[in-house]
Amino acid sequence: MSGSATTMFFNELFDAASGQYKSYINGKWLRSCSNKVVTIMNPSTREEQAKVQACTREEIDEAYEGCAKAQEVWRQVPLWKRAEALRKVAGILREQRETIADCLVSEVAKAKKDSLSEVDRSADLIEYCAEEGLRLLSKGDFLTSDAFKGTERNKLCLSSRIPLGTVLCIPPFNYPVNLCVSKIAPALIAGNAVLVKPPTQGAVAGLHLAQCFDKAGDVFPKGLVNFVTVKASENGDYMAQHPGNDCLSFTGGDVGLSLAKKVGMIPIQMELGGKDACIVCEDADLDLAAKHIVKGGFSYSGQRCTAVKIVLVHESVADALCEKVLAGVQKLTVGMPEDNKNITPVISEQSANFIEGLVLDAKQKGAKFLTEYKREGNLIWPTLLDRVRPDMDIAWEEPFGPVVPIMRVTGADEAVAHANKSRLALQACVFTKDVDNAIRLSDAVRAGTVQINGAPARGPDHFPFQGFRDSGIGSQGIVNSIGMMTKTKTTVINLPTPSYTV
Ligand code: G3H
Repeated sequence: MSGSATTMFFNELFDAASGQYKSYINGKWLRSCSNKVVTIMNPSTREEQAKVQACTREEIDEAYEGCAKAQEVWRQVPLWKRAEALRKVAGILREQRETIADCLVSEVAKAKKDSLSEVDRSADLIEYCAEEGLRLLSKGDFLTSDAFKGTERNKLCLSSRIPLGTVLCIPPFNYPVNLCVSKIAPALIAGNAVLVKPPTQGAVAGLHLAQCFDKAGDVFPKGLVNFVTVKASENGDYMAQHPGNDCLSFTGGDVGLSLAKKVGMIPIQMELGGKDACIVCEDADLDLAAKHIVKGGFSYSGQRCTAVKIVLVHESVADALCEKVLAGVQKLTVGMPEDNKNITPVISEQSANFIEGLVLDAKQKGAKFLTEYKREGNLIWPTLLDRVRPDMDIAWEEPFGPVVPIMRVTGADEAVAHANKSRLALQACVFTKDVDNAIRLSDAVRAGTVQINGAPARGPDHFPFQGFRDSGIGSQGIVNSIGMMTKTKTTVINLPTPSYTV
């Protein structure tokens, strides 16, 4: 990509003269009046990759105004037509998968094959959302008043789900396309407009996604879909607190905690990370557990909120498990995303430094290194730490990198107690052959999802997805997101009171 759009299809979103990507506001590709840009770095080369607009508050206002006007039209467009429009975008996304995947490779250092999967998964998500929206939103309730004590059958109540207005979508760097459509698609099928603030790393991929909506043509009213890049530190709060914002769907880090307090009386849906515990019981299938720990801990270099972030293993099987996990880790390839390596550079130098800090803290406090710690720039070799203890930062912090700590425990109750002390209670997993034990532990672990005999994961994308405590608010997944992005409206028909004698 090296700073410029790669195909004719995407020409409009790139200004060749200035070397800048434009924002998509009110159906037009625009450069900002601010004359300022946000710079995107290539995590692999650590060189400048692209520049996007640092849009102004006036431009944010314009986008919200456009949303409000377009939504007024869109909410009246029949559901089946909204579904058709979404399917059209999904088709375009599939056609453009290579170019968009290339953006992900250079912007967020995701391996090419995983980048392609992200785009395909996004198209699948949009199509599923179109179908699910048709079914869900065509249904409502019909109530008669005489079920309630003291009333007659003179009131009929019709109740259905209607859109909220404009949904502000803030996706994260690790899935700039997929976690963007997981917000946009439910919002649109439900009749809302959307304003997207793409993540800084991932903005270019996001803008390419915007072009797929633009190229779908007049199936969407102009202004219904907006992608506005901003300097988050200057205008992020302004965007979120804007009176035109009727709903916030956010995936990201701790900043979500303060945003949640600032946005006021609108529905919010947030996912802010996870310290996902993997509990391995004495009777577990250790080959299975090891396979899932390697995949769950190291996919996309551990930069997933659902990555395995701590293994809590019964001491009697810890040696055997460590050996099996290590064997899996040794097979992981390390290098550049273009070469489809398993472990690729983490998103930024700041992130690499943070991960390194956790590793060094563990080293200093006596963790046993099953692999040698090695780093070159933002590339960190897969690191497996045994005999981690609760006084080490890595026992609690989310490294968001290719590091898996293993803590030995005396039993499942100790493991559960540790997992339940974490504030990032997104997911957990339990490996055991005893179904009663599995259910008991699932019940005891206070996290949004507990996977039995499988690594934590968000998908399939129609499953409910939610974090407890500081890990999130609201529940996602296609069905829940459509529900969250609508509100109940009732119409009550008052009839003459019937006269009868008993
Ligand atoms: O990083 C947060 C994502 O929601 C995780 O999604 O489980 O599909 O990797 P994933």
